[in-house]
Amino acid sequence: MLLSGAAAALAAAVPAPKTWSANTISGEIEILPEEQIGVIRPELHGQFVEHLGSCVYGGLWVGRDSKTPNVNGYRKAAVEYLRALGVPVLRWPGGCFADDYHWRDGIGPAAQRPRSVNTHWGHSVEDNSFGTHEFMGLCQLIGAQPYLVGNVGSGSPRELRDWMEYCNFPSGSSLADERIRNGAEAPFNVKYWGVGNELWGCGGNLFGDEYAQLYRRFGTFLSKFGEVAPFLIACGPNRDNQEWTEKFLGGFEGKQLPDGYAMHFYSNSKLNATKFTLDEMNAQFATMAALEEAILHQRRLMDNVDPDKKMGLMVDEWGVWDRMVSQQERVHGRLWQQITMRAAVTTALGLNVFHRQADKLAMCNVAQMVNVLDAMLLTENEKCVRTPSYYAFLLTKAHLGKISVKATPPQGNATELSISASRRDDSLVVTVVNPRVDAGVRIRCVVRGREVARASGRSLFHRDMNAFNSFEKPAVVIPQRLEVTVRPEGMLVNLPVLSVSSLEVELKSS
Ligand code: AHR
Repeated sequence: MLLSGAAAALAAAVPAPKTWSANTISGEIEILPEEQIGVIRPELHGQFVEHLGSCVYGGLWVGRDSKTPNVNGYRKAAVEYLRALGVPVLRWPGGCFADDYHWRDGIGPAAQRPRSVNTHWGHSVEDNSFGTHEFMGLCQLIGAQPYLVGNVGSGSPRELRDWMEYCNFPSGSSLADERIRNGAEAPFNVKYWGVGNELWGCGGNLFGDEYAQLYRRFGTFLSKFGEVAPFLIACGPNRDNQEWTEKFLGGFEGKQLPDGYAMHFYSNSKLNATKFTLDEMNAQFATMAALEEAILHQRRLMDNVDPDKKMGLMVDEWGVWDRMVSQQERVHGRLWQQITMRAAVTTALGLNVFHRQADKLAMCNVAQMVNVLDAMLLTENEKCVRTPSYYAFLLTKAHLGKISVKATPPQGNATELSISASRRDDSLVVTVVNPRVDAGVRIRCVVRGREVARASGRSLFHRDMNAFNSFEKPAVVIPQRLEVTVRPEGMLVNLPVLSVSSLEVELKSS
């Protein structure tokens, strides 16, 4: 049990950060390094890009002849920022777009590719200049594993199995040789394959049992074409739709279950991104508690049919989805929204949920990487800024590959704090989100049974929930060093108001 009260007295000696609130409360958190949850797979920090608005065209892909600095057509600044972030896995081409995408339209000489209509996103003309090879090139540049979503809604099992053969069969078949003629000697070895997207909505408006039949049929023809066995991902529910899951999983008796089951969960709001009120902000933060509840419900339903727990739960679309500003959408494309400090806090609350549920989660993909919804990067002509959500990912990146460990609920006055912790040997990472705008928190952080050798911290914070990084002022919300005082009775840290803070801790050898 922690000694409450001691933290406040001791933390008084700790220098306060620049945007310190007049109002401070104290709290205590305790990390339990021996109580392991599971490995935080790097894929839990995955990303998603869709042919939607200016995510791909004009955002990531500017073309080789653009005056925007580029690497073979990919926006140079975006490539550099994303490499630095470390994107473990990238989902493409949709979203809703996937179930009306025909992969053959996007291969071969770009000038000869057909022009199609993007029916889901404004009936814009898609020139298919960004196709399979361009996507694989992007993945290689930023160091991400590809995750392809196949067309189930308007496609056929043959179309999807052919895409798999084209990508993964080494050579000798017509499709593999066509890939080689198109410039890729080595197979792409794609592991992650989505069998459709949102089949309950834009992917076909089906019921769960109807999709189960379709999934089984498509899945029959998706096999190991090369060195890599495909990891097949079924479309899961919207949010916590348990009826969808029961009907879908009910259709598998005695049949091979999918490897991954992917739910979608957006944190919607009624307000424009930069016009948030306290109530609306708190309502959006609460969606992340609902997300954790939904994960718990869904994993229970999965375990009923999969007692060995082989099937991984995924959240392959998630993130902040505010009310759009039509003028901004006209300039920047569909679903473009500004990303504020509040959005970064929401995003970090989500990442903490994923770290805590690491024993069941196989992958999570924030929507979307550039210029759409909870974007990491926003672009305008030649400018490219890193958003506060980018920094939320960057600050929590040290968890990846470590083992998630438990923490006791925060004590003292700071029960709203959200915590995730992970450990590898003597390295410990702790992320604490303070969602309060009215109070900073002086915390004492104890690591049960272990002594701390040294610790450092970084924090992303801004007292204005609506603050953002604009094209003119790109460094309004960026991480700052956070002082961590190591004392025998614990680590003492002043968490600013509305902040995402990560501590990197070295434990003394036990
Ligand atoms: O991410 C935007 C859209 O949201 C996707 O296309 C769809 O899958 C979801 O409804």
